[in-house]
Amino acid sequence: MEKRNTFSGKLGFILAAAGSAVGLGNLWRFPYLAAKHGGGIFLLVYIILALTFGSVLMVTEIAIGRKTQLSPLSAFGALNKKWKWLGKLATFVPVLIFPYYCLIGGWVTKYTTVMITGENAATDSYFTDYISSTANPLIWFFVFLVITVLVVLFGVNRGIENLSKVLMPLLLIITIALSVFVVTRPGSAAGMRYYLLPDFSRLSFKTVLAALGQLFYSMSLAMGIMITYGSYFSKEEKITGAAHKIEIFDTAIALLAGLMIIPAVFSFSGGDEAALSSGPSLMFITLPKVFAAMPAGRVIGALFFFLVLFAALTSSVSILEAIVAGIIDEFKISRTAATLAVSVYGIALGTVCSLGFGIWSDVTLLGFDILDFLDFVSNSVMLPLVGMLTCVLVGFVIKPDAVISEIELNGPFGMKKFYIAMVKWIAPVFIFAILVSGILQSFGILSI
Ligand code: TRP
Repeated sequence: MEKRNTFSGKLGFILAAAGSAVGLGNLWRFPYLAAKHGGGIFLLVYIILALTFGSVLMVTEIAIGRKTQLSPLSAFGALNKKWKWLGKLATFVPVLIFPYYCLIGGWVTKYTTVMITGENAATDSYFTDYISSTANPLIWFFVFLVITVLVVLFGVNRGIENLSKVLMPLLLIITIALSVFVVTRPGSAAGMRYYLLPDFSRLSFKTVLAALGQLFYSMSLAMGIMITYGSYFSKEEKITGAAHKIEIFDTAIALLAGLMIIPAVFSFSGGDEAALSSGPSLMFITLPKVFAAMPAGRVIGALFFFLVLFAALTSSVSILEAIVAGIIDEFKISRTAATLAVSVYGIALGTVCSLGFGIWSDVTLLGFDILDFLDFVSNSVMLPLVGMLTCVLVGFVIKPDAVISEIELNGPFGMKKFYIAMVKWIAPVFIFAILVSGILQSFGILSI
């Protein structure tokens, strides 16, 4: 067999994995979920889950990838023939995410142009009017999707990776600067309190399930992505060190994004808490107001949305890659045919999601609008499920030692006991409980 390429160094691996992890999940999805689910309590739950379930799964996936040297579709089958279906299930998640990820990417593209042309988007109705119209959101959705497809077809991923080494630090700097600007505005103190101080009366299974789904989504866990990256990870480097760096980087960006948006909701809405539950639109309604209030806000706004766009693009490219690689593996068709097939599917389902905000806004699935439904199924149901099953596979079928021996190739594994307890018992049992109760609560069947 041909020798698998490995990343040139540890930094290369971390940057590539972090580039795929950092995206709309951190900048768009995390702040609106935190705002909706009680602020500080969501933050606390998220951090606890990241330190426990998140890191266990991250280490496990990278180790499985490096051990098997295979893509997720084949990796699970190589570990145990009867578990090949788990690889298929994991690979299916990006299939659900891709269409609506590109739709949101289209919203970001639109807002980049709005900032450049100086159109006034700093009103409450601008965004809702925009997404409920028919043609315009679809056009920007196509633009974003076509760029993603072209990158994958022409394989310019390398170039994108190099560019992200420059642009991602810039995004970090701008996010920090915006957070500082926002938290020093009058009226932001109430928002800071809401975001940073946990209110335990808001703790519910629904909150924990939302945080768990967000964690997996944001770190690209439980969908085979980190297995793929792990298969390219050098045998010489420490898995745990790399895993922790990715987790810390990804979480830091999400926390900052919340700090940039949530206090701003308070200072620009005059403390109106209803604004907090606005959901997916939060970033698009609040940030234009922040930019309108800033000196040189138009330039900074344009630069900011451009960087978000870039972060979204690096992620959408890897989502599409993951699907295309899976299809080529499974159906043995050409890369071009696979990419085009996925594009057609993406356009169709993304269009349905977009119209779900406009002419089809009456259509609801289990009480969700179309985009929220796909998001719920993929992130709140499928990801926890795949995460849980991965733990069961490692804990009971191939046994934790299979993973631990891979980790120990590069020195002692300090958290061995913790890892075994987590992967066998704590993680699967808790994820199962959170999943079932969270779903029941989301549908109003359970209320504790
Ligand atoms: N983690 C990415 C983000 O935070 C989103 C994402 C979900 C992703 N699934 C993926 C990225 C698969 C790459 C591959 O935006």
